[in-house]
Amino acid sequence: AGPCDLYSSGGTPCVAAHSTTRALYSAFSGSLYQVKRGSDNTTTSIAPLSAGGVANGTAQDSFCTGTTCLITIIYDQSGRGNHLTQAPPGGFQGPEANGYDSLASATGAPVTLNGHKAYGVFISPGTGYRNDKVSGTATGDAAEGMYAVLDGTHYNGGCCFDYGNAETNNLDTGNGHMEAIYFGDSTTWGTGSGSGPWLMADLENGLFSGVSPANNPGDPSITSRFFTAIVKGKPNQWALRGANAASGSLSTYYSGVRPNKTGYNPMSKEGAIILGIGGDNSVSAQGTFYEGVMTSGYPTDDTENSVQADIVAAKYATTSLTSGPALTVGSSISLRATTAGYTTRYLAHTGATVNTQVVSSSSTTALKQQASWTVRTGLGNSACYSFESKDTPGSYIRHNNFVLVLNASDSSKQFKEDATFCSSAGMNGQGNSIRAWGYPTKHVRHYTNVSYIATNGGLNTFDAAASYNDDVSWVASTSFA
Ligand code: AHR
Ligand code: AHR
Ligand code: AHR
Repeated sequence: AGPCDLYSSGGTPCVAAHSTTRALYSAFSGSLYQVKRGSDNTTTSIAPLSAGGVANGTAQDSFCTGTTCLITIIYDQSGRGNHLTQAPPGGFQGPEANGYDSLASATGAPVTLNGHKAYGVFISPGTGYRNDKVSGTATGDAAEGMYAVLDGTHYNGGCCFDYGNAETNNLDTGNGHMEAIYFGDSTTWGTGSGSGPWLMADLENGLFSGVSPANNPGDPSITSRFFTAIVKGKPNQWALRGANAASGSLSTYYSGVRPNKTGYNPMSKEGAIILGIGGDNSVSAQGTFYEGVMTSGYPTDDTENSVQADIVAAKYATTSLTSGPALTVGSSISLRATTAGYTTRYLAHTGATVNTQVVSSSSTTALKQQASWTVRTGLGNSACYSFESKDTPGSYIRHNNFVLVLNASDSSKQFKEDATFCSSAGMNGQGNSIRAWGYPTKHVRHYTNVSYIATNGGLNTFDAAASYNDDVSWVASTSFA
């Protein structure tokens, strides 16, 4: 049985079931999600390998070879049509045309389930999915449950990496108008023990870790790579539960009455579904979603315990974040551009500016050093890389507002993540393409000989689709200096 079969048996059926990694009903063999590739803007749908099984990640790999791919639709497996698509603007605007949010890269969150390759939904700041025209989700003070499997190591303090029930008009319509899973280390509203990240309930105008709108020490900091998050609510009763999604059983972090603050009892749920954003389309958060559901009715702890056992049996595991020609940690490299007309240029820096410069064996030592980088273990994720300047030790290539700069590390989580890049085979068939770990839709690109992280088509001039594959493909060699 899959998670939704278990919820059905418990009398609290799924009314929405979303996953890019696997079927959530044992009989489900339909489309899990749709991807769109950059090369020709065509789409394809990814289904499980067999009914009830793991997503066909290799079908996605074939479709996306040599180009970029975005997740355009996360289908609802419940049969109610509660699919998730690109979130529209609301109280806050997203970064795309007309204020829409960005779509997630289809390749930012690779995992295996029982050894089969699949991909999660890697939410960068600015990314979000939503459905405002829902069927069957809880409204008003009606009972519901939900769970999600998340990456416990991918989070930030921005508002709000959520999955669950939110406003149908994309605006903040007041206390109690949401009931969603939140994961991150925001300290703006509630907090738990330690420094986070925490599971909290986003009930609108507040992230709640327990009965107090402030600190609740029963809500632990999460340390597992894969995390099962549960929020459920019914009249004057709600709960937060969580577990390592790869082993063990659920713990109850809170179960009791509604928060002691006006507007949350009774609740005024509206029933829209959000992923990766706040109810008012706040788009500052990051996180990774693998699977999740919403139910009708308040699931029993026993039902949820059996769902957790099913999640553990799915055997989520990490897999390589890099592919293509290997880069060797500790080696020093130069990276040559491959765009016709620019093939004598190398990734280099002039002061803090990261650019491309024409370099050869007869260049000055100073210029050779400017075009030489030591490959380091990724400061923000050890499965990827950072690039330390040869002539300015302690300074690394990082992105800032999507422009590459050379900065000394300040040791902050933000710096480390901004200085972390993951390599794959070059999009044009040469060398490597190098994506920003935190923005996997964006690759290191030269544009008018200045370096950026860029999407394949987009609103910034440096996101131009023309010559994208060439501009993001770099051939690594032993460094000039
Ligand atoms: O409750 C926290 C956030 O506050 C909500 O997600 C958002 O709608 C509001 O800004
Ligand atoms: O480069 C994109 C973002 O811009 C970085 O992650 C952040 O540090 C800056 O605001
Ligand atoms: O960086 C040089 C060129 O500038 C890129 O190839 C092109 O995309 C842009 O016009």
